[in-house]
Amino acid sequence: MVLWGWVTLSSLLFSCERSYPLQPISEIPDYFPKPFPDDSLNKSTPQRVLLGKELFFETQLSADGKVSCASCHNPKLWYSDKVAHSKSAFADDSTIRNAPPIFNLAWKKPFFWDGGIKNLESLSFAPLQSHSEMRADLAKQIPFLNRKVAYRVLARQAYNSDTINSQVLGRALAVFIKSITSYNSKWDKVQQGKSAFSAYELQGKTIFERKCQSCHKPPLFYDNKHHNIFLDTDSLPKDHEKIFYGRYRITYNAEDIYAYSTPSLRNLVFTAPYMHDGRYKTLEEVLTFYEDGCRPIHHLKSNEKAPLLAFLKTLTDSTVVK
Ligand code: HEC
Ligand code: HEC
Repeated sequence: MVLWGWVTLSSLLFSCERSYPLQPISEIPDYFPKPFPDDSLNKSTPQRVLLGKELFFETQLSADGKVSCASCHNPKLWYSDKVAHSKSAFADDSTIRNAPPIFNLAWKKPFFWDGGIKNLESLSFAPLQSHSEMRADLAKQIPFLNRKVAYRVLARQAYNSDTINSQVLGRALAVFIKSITSYNSKWDKVQQGKSAFSAYELQGKTIFERKCQSCHKPPLFYDNKHHNIFLDTDSLPKDHEKIFYGRYRITYNAEDIYAYSTPSLRNLVFTAPYMHDGRYKTLEEVLTFYEDGCRPIHHLKSNEKAPLLAFLKTLTDSTVVK
């Protein structure tokens, strides 16, 4: 057994190899910023990525053994799902917010639509324990994992631990999540001098630069900030957890009422519906929202929508559907 490489051993232990997009961190283009530094206790290694991947698809981490992280973060949709509010097999309630896609999170901080999570290593415990998501009782679920030799072998190889425990779980999932990167769109090919925009896409790019990129900043197309883009202008709903108040729920700063994290605009064709509550089913609906001149942000003219959409489509990376 000692003679086998870890990849061979692990793929023998986990008989069904799941395909998922993994673009090597080493090939990240030079026009990307530096990722937030790895926690020195949790650097990425191939064994950690592999363990995190297995855990991400592990349905035994949920109360009824049917729901995994991938149930709402489907790799074929850049780890998002098709519905506005996700619903677990067993849950009577759905998630209040839309499940965001997962890619290029090594540059993101904080996480969740309201920025309520600062650290990727601890993020997974929220969905694991949430009543509307996986409803896991870790005291039950973790011993179950450790009954599988494969997990104990991987825990040893990845973290020098005899068993999976909650630290190993949170860290391995974080390493896997950070390994999911996206930088193979037409937009990227243009940056690399391997492709060129059409005249129509260029027209859209000019509109984008004037009206959108102050928040959706290339090359990630997000800015790690929260903004109120005036989706909601009604009086505040009276809910005691302030879940509909956006970032205000976390900071209690009045200017954060209705402010949400700027999402990336990469891979939009895979990630409908849109916005923190999935209220828009199509990109056309989103652009119509940005067209409404009553809102105090740069609004679009109706003849700008089609070229802008053509530009947004150049941000599509189809590696996931291969
Ligand atoms: C029932 C559906 C569901 C399941 C299962 C689920 N998630 Fe999520 N996930 C969501 C929703 C909804 C959000 C948005 C939460 C928010 O912002 O308030 C989210 C947010 C996230 C984010 C934040 C992304 C960002 O850009 O800030 C990450 C990372 C994530 N989930 C990882 C996981 C992991 C890891 C698991 C498994 C341990 C998991 N999710 C299980 C629905 C789900
Ligand atoms: C002031 C900052 C800001 C500007 C300017 C801005 N956006 Fe946004 N955008 C956001 C924020 C914040 C969200 C999330 C809002 C929410 O869900 O409550 C968002 C959401 C989106 C979404 C939905 C993405 C998803 O995954 O749900 C799209 C598409 C989008 N914006 C496109 C554009 C376009 C096109 C423009 C230019 C016309 C633009 N944005 C201008 C901040 C901005």
